[in-house]
Amino acid sequence: MSAPIILVVNGPNLNMLGSRQPEIYGAETLADIETACRAHAAALGFDIEFRQSNHEGDLVDWIQGARNRCAGLVINAGAYTHTSIALLDALLAAELPAVEVHLSNIHGRDPFRHTSFIAKAARGMICGLGSHGYLLAIDALARITQPHSTKKARDA
Ligand code: DQA
Repeated sequence: MSAPIILVVNGPNLNMLGSRQPEIYGAETLADIETACRAHAAALGFDIEFRQSNHEGDLVDWIQGARNRCAGLVINAGAYTHTSIALLDALLAAELPAVEVHLSNIHGRDPFRHTSFIAKAARGMICGLGSHGYLLAIDALARITQPHSTKKARDA
């Protein structure tokens, strides 16, 4: 049987990680984060689908496509976090556990970043912990989707 899939969705400008405002977003590239997510998920028995787009509709399509197919999703919607009702609706329609991630602490930044339009559809939000937030989100999804087996793995 193939491993359950966690979809990791990244929004606009996250393809620029590494060179984009490293004092805020860190020195790691998105490829570095993908590699870390894949290794972490594999250790917990999950496969990762890792995607990035600068186009809102791509993100909507990927979230819709996860319904009835993926175990859960991690989303860093970038600036669409603060604007997109379409992403909120897609997440609600997908009916999957979702964890919202931000590399930076959005609550310590510009006031317009304090509001997340997608938070309502997320089981939780991790922000301000850099790329480690993605791994914590995968941990959370493993617990949410496989509470018994991850407990056994932890206790072993
Ligand atoms: C971000 C925070 C957003 O406000 C910003 O527009 C981004 C990245 C983060 O990961 O900290 O593009 O989602």
